[in-house]
Amino acid sequence: MRIGLDFGTTNSSAAVFDGRCVRLLNIDPRGPEPAIMRSALFISRDGAPFVGREAIDRFTEGNVGREIEYMWRYIGETEVTLAEFGTVIQALYAHVDSNTPGRLFQSLKSHLRDGGFSSTDVFGTRYTLEQLIAVILRIVLQRVEAELGQRVTGLVIGRPVHYALDPAADALAIERMRRACEIAELPPFEFLPEPTAAAFAYASTVQREQRVLVFDFGGGTLDVTVMAVTDRGVTTVLATDGVPIGGDLMDRRIVMGKLLPHFGEGATLGPRRLPLPAILLDHLSEWQSIVDLTQPRYLDIIDEAIRTGNRPKELRALRTLVRENYGLPLYETVERAKVRLSNDRSATIAMHVPGIQFEEVLERWDFERLIGPDVRAVGACVDRALAAAGLSHDEIDVVLRTGGSSRIPCFVRMLAARFGAERLQEMDVFTGVASGLAIAAAQG
Ligand SMILES: Nc1ncnc2c1ncn2[C@@H]1O[C@H](COP(=O)(O)OP(=O)(O)OP(=O)(O)O)[C@@H](O)[C@H]1O
Ligand SMILES: [Mg+2]
Repeated sequence: MRIGLDFGTTNSSAAVFDGRCVRLLNIDPRGPEPAIMRSALFISRDGAPFVGREAIDRFTEGNVGREIEYMWRYIGETEVTLAEFGTVIQALYAHVDSNTPGRLFQSLKSHLRDGGFSSTDVFGTRYTLEQLIAVILRIVLQRVEAELGQRVTGLVIGRPVHYALDPAADALAIERMRRACEIAELPPFEFLPEPTAAAFAYASTVQREQRVLVFDFGGGTLDVTVMAVTDRGVTTVLATDGVPIGGDLMDRRIVMGKLLPHFGEGATLGPRRLPLPAILLDHLSEWQSIVDLTQPRYLDIIDEAIRTGNRPKELRALRTLVRENYGLPLYETVERAKVRLSNDRSATIAMHVPGIQFEEVLERWDFERLIGPDVRAVGACVDRALAAAGLSHDEIDVVLRTGGSSRIPCFVRMLAARFGAERLQEMDVFTGVASGLAIAAAQG
């Protein structure tokens, strides 16, 4: 049996098509919606992998609110040559977090374009990025086969139109994803652009000739496809385009644009009123990089800032954020507020945990100000795709919105201004791509 697999930045899903109906597969039985699995991987200290909701829960239960303890650990030996003594063997020690129960990885797909992320040490075992992704893919394959009760004989896997704007980074990403699939020992697989897949899903439901623009806006990338659909559902891709802008970036804009004052931004230190080193708060731009601040050289600066700075409460909140691993809850709180802003005009971002207490009301207009440059870049991407297809806005019959971020009102307005609100249509935001991949897989 051939399946479609959408390995997303935030969420993944898989589906099969029997020639008439698409069936979504329950790849995350423990999740609130089993057909939509968070693309998260947790590796425990003893090397056991967990994916989806269970990965996030295990991390949250074991790591959050726990003081990270540093110990000098013996990590090996090295040869050093000293002038007086000649070559000697010297023991190597390092500061390591001694009691963390496991490591969590999210948004791994976004790292595919990042040449700097090659491998990471997980409790003494080196994992390349490709190996980490392969662990997720392998588990998903096993769950699919268990649910179907038969072997998967082939897959069509989604890919963004562009993982990265730079062609070299884009080529690197696609090659690494291919490698990850090989390491996972997937059955024969091929890639299909994600918005093209979404258009397939739509084409299977229409009976007239149409020109369609798919606007697939997820956690990591915006992907656009312009397609012609015939009355028998035959599709021709006229143009594709994409940019590495997505929901993760919107979360980051909120943290960096609104929340830093709660963690000491603007504090001055000592009698000479020196500014807090900017490098500290720069680490808050991703939840994964907050943990870097647990290194003693940064913690020393934070402790010094608490002692001598003029914002001790906020600087203590920074220390708690860092030392007790509240980075992920912070980002989850922000994400929830962002999602609420798609319905409400304002949302409160609140954290009430020992050591971190704040409430920040975020108005929708203020959020839109923070992401203004991104909205313009996304609009330009839509226009480029249309120009490449040789069409004007009024030659598009329907604009399909898919992907979670396509619900953000200012992007809906941006599309309505170009195409008219009556031509916009929302399709299954989290599963439209997987459905289309399944249809492509059945045909292939
Ligand atoms: N109602 C909503 N309003 C705004 N954003 C939302 C909403 N629902 C979900 N999101 C955001 O959508 C993103 C996830 O969407 P989706 O599952 O489509 O992405 P993905 O397929 O994993 O990513 P990609 O396709 O870029 O690899 C997250 O950033 C999430 O915060
Ligand atoms: Mg997606």
